[in-house]
Amino acid sequence: MNLVSCSSNYSPLSSNFLVPTTPPSKILKSSNRVSHLGWGERRDNLCNNRRASKTVAYYGLKTPPYKLDALEPHMSRKTLEVHWGAHHRGYVDALNKQLAKNDVLYGCTMDELIRLTYNNGNPLPEFNNAAQVWNHDFFWESMQPGGGEMPTLGLLQQIDKDFGSFANFKEKFIEQALTSFGSGWLWLVLKREKKCLAIVKTSNAINPLVWNDIPIISLDLWEHAYYLDHKNDRAKYVNTFMNHLVSWNAAAARMARAQAFVNLGEPKIPVA
Ligand SMILES: [Fe+2]
Repeated sequence: MNLVSCSSNYSPLSSNFLVPTTPPSKILKSSNRVSHLGWGERRDNLCNNRRASKTVAYYGLKTPPYKLDALEPHMSRKTLEVHWGAHHRGYVDALNKQLAKNDVLYGCTMDELIRLTYNNGNPLPEFNNAAQVWNHDFFWESMQPGGGEMPTLGLLQQIDKDFGSFANFKEKFIEQALTSFGSGWLWLVLKREKKCLAIVKTSNAINPLVWNDIPIISLDLWEHAYYLDHKNDRAKYVNTFMNHLVSWNAAAARMARAQAFVNLGEPKIPVA
């Protein structure tokens, strides 16, 4: 992980994307809810307590919150068809196949599944697909038609506080995206203990939930995210994201929810 601004550990805030889909064809015996337990405890608990039974749901492919052509001309329908319809779908399908062989992991929310399978930095086989499902859901919701522009009010004040100015934040975010090697993700996250925003780079499927960061915005830096529209020109893709696609509305909503967990106090930057 690479970090710009600050670092700390805290409890995460993110959505639960567990979606029952067709058809929950598998019945397994399970214990009471054990989501607060670690991997070993969870496994032991399930092995030792098999009196209750429940129907198991598979994870589903969530649709982006806009039509597939809604981001044009900045992100093409073709890119969405391939990126969401093939790559993202592939992660969901692969995850469900893996989980069909692993009763212990059924019943987790997606957040729990990511943290359990990350396994303190020794990822289990399910981690990559689980994290990529979550990452892509979060990425689609980090964009909107008519995006770009600037954040408003509290989020802008926090960016000013933690990065000096919005222009400085934007410059650092783009710089970090262009200096990220290989496939991975770039995130704007809120740090709980230090109560500040930070830019974090992660490799492959890793996301900030594994360090208990609160994600605010994400940018997919896998080449499959931009090759159809921009070939290998990552700079054009990153600048297009920042200027025309990023959803500061989604970011503001996530910041508002995050403040249920992180007390940011009174803004030090006065409202203009
Ligand atoms: Fe992707």
